[in-house]
Amino acid sequence: MLFLQLFSALIFYSQVQGVTPYSLQNCMVHEQWSKMIKVLCYHQNLPRVPSHLPWNVNNLDLSENQIASLRQSDFSKLSLLQVLNVSQNQIHLIEEGTFTHTSSLKILNLTSNQLRVLSSSMFDGLGNLTVLLLRENNIDRIEASAFAHLMKLKVIDLSSNKLHSLNALDVVFKVKSLEELHIRENNITNFTTKDIVNVPMWLRELDASHNPISFIDVATDALYRLLSLDLSFSGTHNHITWIIQDPCFLKGLKRLYLGGIFMTPLDILAVVQKLNCSLLEEIHLNELNLTDSDNIIEKVCLWHRNVKTLNLQGNKFESIKGIVFENCTHLWHLDLTHSRFKVVPCISFQPLNSLQSLSLANNEFAAVPNATSNITSLKSLGLSFNQIRKIVPNDFANLKNLEHLNLTGNRITKISSDLFSDLHNLLELNIGMNLLLEISNLFQIV
Ligand SMILES: *[C@@H]1O[C@H](CO)[C@@H](O)[C@H](O)[C@H]1NC(C)=O
Ligand SMILES: *[C@@H]1O[C@H](CO)[C@@H](O)[C@H](O)[C@H]1NC(C)=O
Ligand SMILES: *[C@@H]1O[C@H](CO)[C@@H](O)[C@H](O)[C@H]1NC(C)=O
Ligand SMILES: *[C@@H]1O[C@H](CO)[C@@H](O)[C@H](O)[C@H]1NC(C)=O
Ligand SMILES: *[C@@H]1O[C@H](CO)[C@@H](O)[C@H](O)[C@H]1NC(C)=O
Ligand SMILES: *[C@@H]1O[C@H](CO)[C@@H](O)[C@H](O)[C@H]1NC(C)=O
Ligand SMILES: *[C@@H]1O[C@H](CO)[C@@H](O)[C@H](O)[C@H]1NC(C)=O
Ligand SMILES: *[C@@H]1O[C@H](CO)[C@@H](O)[C@H](O)[C@H]1NC(C)=O
Ligand SMILES: *[C@@H]1O[C@H](CO)[C@@H](O)[C@H](O)[C@H]1NC(C)=O
Ligand SMILES: *[C@@H]1O[C@H](CO)[C@@H](O)[C@H](O)[C@H]1NC(C)=O
Ligand SMILES: *[C@@H]1O[C@H](CO)[C@@H](O)[C@H](O)[C@H]1NC(C)=O
Repeated sequence: MLFLQLFSALIFYSQVQGVTPYSLQNCMVHEQWSKMIKVLCYHQNLPRVPSHLPWNVNNLDLSENQIASLRQSDFSKLSLLQVLNVSQNQIHLIEEGTFTHTSSLKILNLTSNQLRVLSSSMFDGLGNLTVLLLRENNIDRIEASAFAHLMKLKVIDLSSNKLHSLNALDVVFKVKSLEELHIRENNITNFTTKDIVNVPMWLRELDASHNPISFIDVATDALYRLLSLDLSFSGTHNHITWIIQDPCFLKGLKRLYLGGIFMTPLDILAVVQKLNCSLLEEIHLNELNLTDSDNIIEKVCLWHRNVKTLNLQGNKFESIKGIVFENCTHLWHLDLTHSRFKVVPCISFQPLNSLQSLSLANNEFAAVPNATSNITSLKSLGLSFNQIRKIVPNDFANLKNLEHLNLTGNRITKISSDLFSDLHNLLELNIGMNLLLEISNLFQIV
């Protein structure tokens, strides 16, 4: 460990040696081996993009200033620019042709500005752009050819804007190279795949969470290649109507996020059952106020036997039946934090032969539940913020593969190293915020 730290300190030292920073007006210039030139001008109250930036800059950070517009001449000489961060400014105008000479640009960060309309020629010239971040603007309209020349664009983030329908996103769905689209926190009320006409071949991830959706209609196979769909925290007070006309219209789906969605447990179960054509590996059903009587775990496990990650945090479970995980034999990660568990039947986790991480933090356990004592595959066990008073020798005796054990925030008064002596692979033990009065057989720190 010590050796490793020393080693990384040495690397850091030698990297610092390669940098010869100097200042230029309101900016710091870092040359790394005179190859990558990084210019940092953030938080300088700049009213406009400084002129006289070094022509060979690769990475330019102009964030947190007062820049109101980007003009044609601003970047016209910066043909080697690869990363431009103009986030947290007041930009409401980007002149046509602003980016015509920055064809090397790969990442453009326009987060937190005042853009309202993305106009047709705004991004012309950005043929190498892969990531375009437009979060937290006021965008309510995107003109027809706004993204027309962005041949390599993979990620668009339009979260926290004012877009009101998938229809308005038609231009976005026309970006052929698109892999990831974020439209979280807009004003979309009607999520119907009929509004998605062109679908990028490689679109894998769609985040439409936190929208006031009242109607979801999977009416076409437009999204059948999609891998990850996030509809968490959709809806307002009204319940969402969700229609799936053919289960195979979402055939490729592997990750599904439904946390905090405004639907009844019964309706959620109906959706999960309906998706029987998808091989779901990751299911998020957090913050849904689910209780034991909803019988949700056994149904999910019955219908999706390949599930590897099950996120159930922030529900209202008090106990579970012994058999609920019977058909979840492929589970790797199970998150049951922030619920109301006091006990778990000792056979509950028995079927979970592959489980690597289990979190039971923020529940009401008064002792380490014996249900966890035989999960030999476990690498990480979270028990922080319960009411555990005592640790007994058998609690962790069989967890030979455990690497991380978190007991922070309990009421343990006494520990000794022999309680953990079978944990030959333990790398990290957290026992902060307890009531420790006695620590016997001091730990050997290696
Ligand atoms: C701006 O973007 C650059 C490159 O992505 C990043 O290193 C930097 O931290 C960003 N600045 C802020 C304030 O986020
Ligand atoms: C973009 O800017 C936002 C806001 O300053 C920042 O949080 C984020 O890290 C930046 N992202 C990149 C990739 O630079
Ligand atoms: C991409 O960048 C390379 C090198 O910076 C440049 O030669 C090329 O013209 C750019 N491609 C496009 C489509 O702009
Ligand atoms: C959202 O859209 C509705 C109409 O569908 C409109 O009445 C409302 O003002 C919009 N809200 C915002 C924040 O734009
Ligand atoms: C949602 O959009 C579809 C197609 O654009 C339309 O047929 C339907 O009536 C809309 N539904 C609601 C509830 O607005
Ligand atoms: C869960 O219950 C809390 C408090 O009763 C409520 O505010 C929240 O909206 C509920 N969440 C859902 C998804 O029903
Ligand atoms: C999936 O469920 C539907 C009913 O919702 C049923 O008709 C279909 O046969 C099922 N498909 C598979 C592969 O189990
Ligand atoms: C597990 O699946 C079998 C069918 O393969 C079924 O009989 C059993 O009831 C399921 N267990 C639970 C808890 O749903
Ligand atoms: C597990 O603990 C419960 C009390 O929490 C106890 O009743 C039960 O006998 C224990 N089972 C085994 C196998 O140790
Ligand atoms: C754990 O396994 C041991 C030996 O196989 C067994 O004696 C014990 O009852 C098991 N404990 C629980 C809680 O299942
Ligand atoms: C242990 O749990 C606390 C509280 O939940 C958390 O803040 C901390 O990051 C955890 N530590 C590890 C190593 O997981």
